[in-house]
Amino acid sequence: MIKVRVPATTANIGPGFDCLGIALNLYCYLEFEEIEEGLLIEECEDEYCDENNLIYQSMKKVFGMVNYKPKGIRIRIKSDIPISRGLGSSAACIVGGLVGANEISGGRLTKKELLDIANTIEGHPDNVTPAMFGGMTASVCENSKVYFTNMKVSDKFHFYALIPDFEVSTEKARSVLPKTINYKDAVYNIGRVSLLINALMNGDENLLKISCKDKLHEDYRKNLINDYDYIKSRSEELGSLAVFISGSGSTIMAVTGRDNNELEKDMSSLLKSLKDNWSIKKLKVDY
Ligand code: HSE
Repeated sequence: MIKVRVPATTANIGPGFDCLGIALNLYCYLEFEEIEEGLLIEECEDEYCDENNLIYQSMKKVFGMVNYKPKGIRIRIKSDIPISRGLGSSAACIVGGLVGANEISGGRLTKKELLDIANTIEGHPDNVTPAMFGGMTASVCENSKVYFTNMKVSDKFHFYALIPDFEVSTEKARSVLPKTINYKDAVYNIGRVSLLINALMNGDENLLKISCKDKLHEDYRKNLINDYDYIKSRSEELGSLAVFISGSGSTIMAVTGRDNNELEKDMSSLLKSLKDNWSIKKLKVDY
């Protein structure tokens, strides 16, 4: 039996739309086994627990590429990554399925080849790259190939995921984006994302505050997240250095410069005062 553990991911990190991502210590645990016949998906909490399951669909891509025909497949899923909350649950299914299928079929593809397939399935590389390689990654896709760099985030920074009980699908969150953007907004993001990478790697708090800002997606998406403006401004007042929509939402990520129990307590009571149910999870970068 093959066991695979894939981390959750937070993508975009403010200005790094479709490019920056960070792996986090919240996991999807998968077990794979070739069985005598059929498809058996155990403990599936997904919408699709049959042939259409994303893990299985991803496995089929690998089997097709290496021309391997399994008799039957058993998949067991236990995931701590909430679905449609901007924490990379789909990326984890895709990466997990590809890695599992590759192991079953004799490990013929490299991790980099699996990443290229993962990106083709997901449509953007910012979640699948850190899910596959860990740490903080910047990635782009050219001619169906992913080019990426893998970095360490300073231990100084702490990540607090503020997770609501409502979902926002990536499809919906992408549908509210404009078809074109203006030059000034593009320049605003390019400058900031360059500085942001440096700030996160070197633990530069002031640079993080200035650079973790976005004009390409958050303003269009924030209306999909109840109380976004209020949570962001209160969280900054309470001491967060950066507050951004995790991936396409609905989770809001707050980054602090210290392991701040007071802030966590204050944030928890702030979240309790809202009409939706929110939970707060303190997360670390996964390598
Ligand atoms: N970069 C993607 C987006 C991440 O913001 O739409 C969500 O999967």
